[in-house]
Amino acid sequence: MQVNELAAWRLLAARTNEIGVMRISGLFDSEPDRLDYLSAEAVGLYVDLSKSLVSKQIFELLVALAKERCLEDAIVGLFRGDRVNGTENRPALHTLLREPTPEIEEPDQAERREQIARMRKQVNGFCDRFSRGGLTGHDGTRIHDIVSIGIGGSHLGPELVCDALRNEISPDVNVHFVANVDGGNLHRVLVNLDPSSTFFIVASKSFATAETLLNARTARDWIVTAFNNPAAIKTHFAAVTANQTGAMTFGIEKHNIFPMWDWVGGRYSLWSAIGLPIAIALGTSVFERLLAGAHSMDEHFRNTELRKNIPVMHALVALWHNNFCDYNSLCVVPYDDRLRLLPAFLQQLEMESNGKRITFDNELTEYDTAPVIWGGVGSNAQHAFFQQLHQGTRHAPVEFIVALTHPQSGDEHHSSLIANCFAQSEALMLGSNDDSSTDKADPESDLNLAAHRNSPGNRPSSTIVMKALTPESLGALLALYEHKTFVQGVIWNINSFDQWGVELGKSLAGTMLNEIRSGEHGHHDPSTLALLARLKDART
Ligand code: F6P
Repeated sequence: MQVNELAAWRLLAARTNEIGVMRISGLFDSEPDRLDYLSAEAVGLYVDLSKSLVSKQIFELLVALAKERCLEDAIVGLFRGDRVNGTENRPALHTLLREPTPEIEEPDQAERREQIARMRKQVNGFCDRFSRGGLTGHDGTRIHDIVSIGIGGSHLGPELVCDALRNEISPDVNVHFVANVDGGNLHRVLVNLDPSSTFFIVASKSFATAETLLNARTARDWIVTAFNNPAAIKTHFAAVTANQTGAMTFGIEKHNIFPMWDWVGGRYSLWSAIGLPIAIALGTSVFERLLAGAHSMDEHFRNTELRKNIPVMHALVALWHNNFCDYNSLCVVPYDDRLRLLPAFLQQLEMESNGKRITFDNELTEYDTAPVIWGGVGSNAQHAFFQQLHQGTRHAPVEFIVALTHPQSGDEHHSSLIANCFAQSEALMLGSNDDSSTDKADPESDLNLAAHRNSPGNRPSSTIVMKALTPESLGALLALYEHKTFVQGVIWNINSFDQWGVELGKSLAGTMLNEIRSGEHGHHDPSTLALLARLKDART
């Protein structure tokens, strides 16, 4: 079954001819209830989709499409632990990680909830020990610097949360993140650290990711060399992994290994022990508030009718822009320096989840799936790529995210930030057609300056507003995007929870690395051989 054969999809496709004549600003006049049906407020977030290229008829057809795809049943299945990750025959139960006090009602979830309770107790015990100054290194020095070594979902979420809530970080700790296999990343972090007071967390669900293991080995060498004693590994390393054997083989003590499970996907794992750096840096109470915020969005998502269900509304409008307005990318612009890492987090969440081409019916999709997710922080982005968003032939829907209050920003600064955010959203919609500008740089020029200066407008955007950026609102925001991603995967009939596409590159890199080490190049295309030859020359 191809989703584009469904009745609602066909009716939506029949309305694409309206797009060319639809003026977003005009729809506010023709649809008096536009703001009402295209906005929603819940769990501390206000989501305004009314500047989207969507009419009421189209929105209703999008809801009909969700129903035709049995979205409500799919949501129940997700939370119930159905094996939604079909190619790996696994559930995706990141939501279970943020249940406040797991009520063990479904027997088959009982074991998982007990595993989570044990993991939380281990995390809390470790954090309490750290906060009391009880975490000491090989020579008895109190640990002050935590270095988390991990990549992808084992890195992006924890770093985003620690950066976003940086004002809550305890003065007793500095937390650092190392992800890139580029030795310059690890060097940049270690160059200013004292081995005596540095503790490493190797965050890797598989404990097999090449970049993470190489960084971890180099860090281990740094510690062993500093103390001239391999025993130092025991008091300077922990692991967060589903591969306990791998971690113990590396030399990490069993009591310093925090469990992960195959029913939590990497890009959905910051709520698990992968969030250990968050709990250490911010404290377990802040981490629990983050979980509570995500849980509140879970409850909204599973209990709210589709038309007012924030992740569903957000997913449907974005799907209309992607599949019917033919926008092939989506631009995320948080107007908050604390959320500067959000676009990178969402790139993995949405593009590694829904960057797929084969349906659950083993067919190549006849329609597009995930758009390219990109973006940057506002207001910087206005001086980088907003020109194209306003006047380019290639442009993208923009998702603005903003907090109405900011304890560290100061009124004038924050008012300016908010003014810019709201103004950009309005400008993208209205455009400009000021023909009065006749002043020419060169009076002899025949350039029509007005044509160059005016913007077409009618460029869609959405705005997510939170009163303040808190652990709760951040948790709710990230859970919103997780569920938006799930909703789109259900409608596209694809598996949002595997990532087979990354395997080929990993495999070829392993072969290439061996050839670079040996100097003996295997069979490659002329381009790759020439590149390898250049490397060899550069090293001779
Ligand atoms: O990018 C592929 C991937 O498997 C991600 O899904 C995952 O978050 C990342 O690599 C790291 O994997 P691990 O936590 O197993 O080291």
